[in-house]
Amino acid sequence: MPSVRVRALAKINLDLRVLNKRPDGYHELRTIFQTVSLADQLEISYRRGPTRIEVKSDFNIPGNLIVKAADSVLQTAGVTGRVGFVLTKNIPLGGGLGGGSSDAAAVLLALPRLIRRPLPFGKLLELAESLGSDITFFLLGGTAAAIGRGTELFPLPDLPSWNALLVTGGLHVSTPDAYRALGRQLTTSAPVNMMNDFQSALWSVGVARAAGDWEVRNDFETVVFAQYPQLKLIKGKLLRLGARPALMTGSGSTIYGIFPSKSARDRAAVQLRRELPSGQVHAVTLVSRKRYRALWRGQMGISVGDELWQSQRLGRYAK
Ligand code: C5P
Repeated sequence: MPSVRVRALAKINLDLRVLNKRPDGYHELRTIFQTVSLADQLEISYRRGPTRIEVKSDFNIPGNLIVKAADSVLQTAGVTGRVGFVLTKNIPLGGGLGGGSSDAAAVLLALPRLIRRPLPFGKLLELAESLGSDITFFLLGGTAAAIGRGTELFPLPDLPSWNALLVTGGLHVSTPDAYRALGRQLTTSAPVNMMNDFQSALWSVGVARAAGDWEVRNDFETVVFAQYPQLKLIKGKLLRLGARPALMTGSGSTIYGIFPSKSARDRAAVQLRRELPSGQVHAVTLVSRKRYRALWRGQMGISVGDELWQSQRLGRYAK
């Protein structure tokens, strides 16, 4: 039975602004995604026969996106078969780190190869979008600005492999609830200011480079910190330990901090591990698009990234 083993990386949002609610029910976003080195491991096997998709994992994940992703690949490729997954979760669930989305993207990239039915990249994009808002980013990786629902991506220059900490408070913040709470605060005059602020953030991340000088924010912090004050305390601790910036990722609950050196990061990790329950402090590095591409070339022999940028540039979104 052919099988492959792949790593699916986590992401953080270096910046996240939520604009208005759109007619399709999603919110218009401006965000900057960044892949980091924390990763789930996914073993995928395939055997011909009637379709059956099975997942072995320490976690029972209702509505697991990898099952939906596998199902959509089989249907699109017009084949049936038994797909088996062994999923080792290292990326906390519901922490704003995109673990489920990354696992699903890994299935979209790896399964067509495994069943020897490569799908055109445009098709993968369509499947990614239909499965969830963050999945498209994992077909690109590195540092990227995203607009719209979060699926229209613009690659930004690679950042160095800076050292960071992810502090996962063990809390599961519901993304739809966070959007609903935030939605009540959105005003019609806000978007213009938000756009200007986002341009500054883009400029500071894309060009100015020193993370300590970035003008970044996450709009979800206000509403999520109001509900879980302990997250604000974690952000304060990261800042006091020298992180710049220290920010919540996605709709929470993970707070990350980027440090000016590996030694500063490691000192902060020792300190935080003393104060917080075990398993909540993850030391990571930022993963550039170059490294992300090398990862996918190494583990599946596929070239990710270029095609996505081409398809989007060729006016897929111009309609
Ligand atoms: O697309 P995804 O399934 O990941 O989104 C989860 C939920 O987050 C959506 O059902 C929606 O409530 C909210 N969301 C949103 N606007 C976005 C992305 C997500 O309102 N741009």
